[in-house]
Amino acid sequence: MKQYLDKIKAAKTLDQLEELRVALLGKKGVLTEKMKALGKLDPEERKTAGLALNVEKQKITQALDEKKSELSLIEMNAKLAGEKLDLTLPVNQGAKKGTLTPMTHVMMEIAAIFSSMGFEMAEGPDIDDVYHNFDALNIPEHHPARERNASFFLEDSEFMLRTETSTVQIHKMEKTGAPVKIFVPGRVYRVDLDATHVPMFHQCEGLVVGEKITLQHLLGTLKTFIESYFEMDNVPVRMRQHFFPFTEPSFEIDTCYEKKDGKLVIGKGDNWMELLGAGMVHPNVLKNCGIDPEKYQGFAFGMGVERFIMAKYGITDMRKLFEGDVRWLRHYGFPANEVPTRAEGLS
Ligand code: PHE
Repeated sequence: MKQYLDKIKAAKTLDQLEELRVALLGKKGVLTEKMKALGKLDPEERKTAGLALNVEKQKITQALDEKKSELSLIEMNAKLAGEKLDLTLPVNQGAKKGTLTPMTHVMMEIAAIFSSMGFEMAEGPDIDDVYHNFDALNIPEHHPARERNASFFLEDSEFMLRTETSTVQIHKMEKTGAPVKIFVPGRVYRVDLDATHVPMFHQCEGLVVGEKITLQHLLGTLKTFIESYFEMDNVPVRMRQHFFPFTEPSFEIDTCYEKKDGKLVIGKGDNWMELLGAGMVHPNVLKNCGIDPEKYQGFAFGMGVERFIMAKYGITDMRKLFEGDVRWLRHYGFPANEVPTRAEGLS
């Protein structure tokens, strides 16, 4: 038996080892033949010889197994060493780099500006309940937005796709009470489609609640934001009285523009374009969130992000923003390394 064990030990490859296994334990292997020969012995002899043979078989099997794992490891290491990646190879210089969509870029610009003004970013669910989308925002029962053909409702349920990011005002105030200073970027959904309306679009909401918050704070904040975003000093803004159920008083904020060579120029001329809705938070909204309107006041505003993109970057068809046309993106997209740098507040 020793000679077999020696042979096993000396095997250099898995193939050699397999040959040995067949020669010893295979159908016509040495040990198999010996097993067969046992039948010819008389019962007493068969018992002792059989026992001895079994021990021999066990030892050989064990030796084969051990050698097999040893050789497998060696062969695998050799294979790995041969397959090493050469990290010094030059990268494919010709590969085309993608761009950030104007939507992504502008969302980051907006976030950077509000962050630098000390606003915290907040988010909420796209699918919300009727309470957060309407009731808590003081939107009356008969309001047209509640019509089933104006908003997207989930079948037979109290849930819907939110129609405005104002829902997050409620979520935030319910969660933390006052004071609050947040901006809320996000998607909203309405049943609408033409060159300037799409059924899914983006808003950025703002909400500040504290003691002694006034209309002056609202105006100052929006003026600073508009001037930072359009990278211009003294952009003329106009406040027009308006109505929103969740603010009182309510306003729309406009800025002036002119068209030059088919392009929009913001901050000049005598046309006015609506930029945002805003107002002082309605006492009912504060009450709905458990905040005492005698002690706290607040202002809120909401803007359509697509409108801001179109006004700053000269895009005329809103639908282009969502079509994913690579040629369009190559022209209007932004290199990924041009990320606005004031986004410390983002988390
Ligand atoms: N939610 C309003 C809209 O979608 C905008 C708005 C937000 C107005 C906050 C006032 C205060 O038109």
